[in-house]
Amino acid sequence: MTKIAPSILASDFSKLGEEIKDVERGGADYIHVDVMDGHFVPNITIGPLIVEHIRPVTDLPLDVHLMIENPDQYIEAFAKAGSDIITVHQETCPHLHRTIQLIKSHGVKAGVVINPATPAETIRPILQEVDLVLLMTVNPGFGGQSFIHSVIPKITQIAEWRKEDQLSFEIEVDGGVKASTARMCTEAGADVLVAGSAIFNQEDRKQAIEEIRASS
Ligand code: DX5
Ligand code: ZN
Repeated sequence: MTKIAPSILASDFSKLGEEIKDVERGGADYIHVDVMDGHFVPNITIGPLIVEHIRPVTDLPLDVHLMIENPDQYIEAFAKAGSDIITVHQETCPHLHRTIQLIKSHGVKAGVVINPATPAETIRPILQEVDLVLLMTVNPGFGGQSFIHSVIPKITQIAEWRKEDQLSFEIEVDGGVKASTARMCTEAGADVLVAGSAIFNQEDRKQAIEEIRASS
């Protein structure tokens, strides 16, 4: 069954705890936390302090997506705050292998992310080291953008390499995911779908989650 990871970026931050409980009751598999620094992406969002405060609110894994420069500097803080999965962008990591090992050294699952314009080949050497590969289907920075269809062949490619090399990392897709775009992602090989606006902009989050899962 496809896993659904609601992105709290689209939630009401004045009642973040309740919003998280709502999607947990609604059948979410992960809570996706978008961390932005105003440098790598043109927006500023969440720091380790917020992760620490939402940690006791849910039993679901916290899937922390770091859209920040120099992620090495903050990995320990995000790990100690209670992250279960930390993903870093290939584009921000000149020493990607070292960064992935640093995440794992804290007992946290490690993932690598690539932007829509970044070729899949750039992460091939690291695939055997990661627990998750996240493919951006929008340019990161904001919720509510349109799905970029040209990323689909990259999902297929990563899934092919996973099979070829007998690896078991999860493939996650992030950006513009909704009922109408879910199927093409899972058909290409995605296991986890991140969705922000398609879930939090709906009154009934359980129904929104079920709709995405059912169409996937
Ligand atoms: C984009 C973030 C996404 C975003 C997805 O920079 O990484 O996780 O919250 O939002 P939607 O689902 O609205 O495109
Ligand atoms: Zn994200």
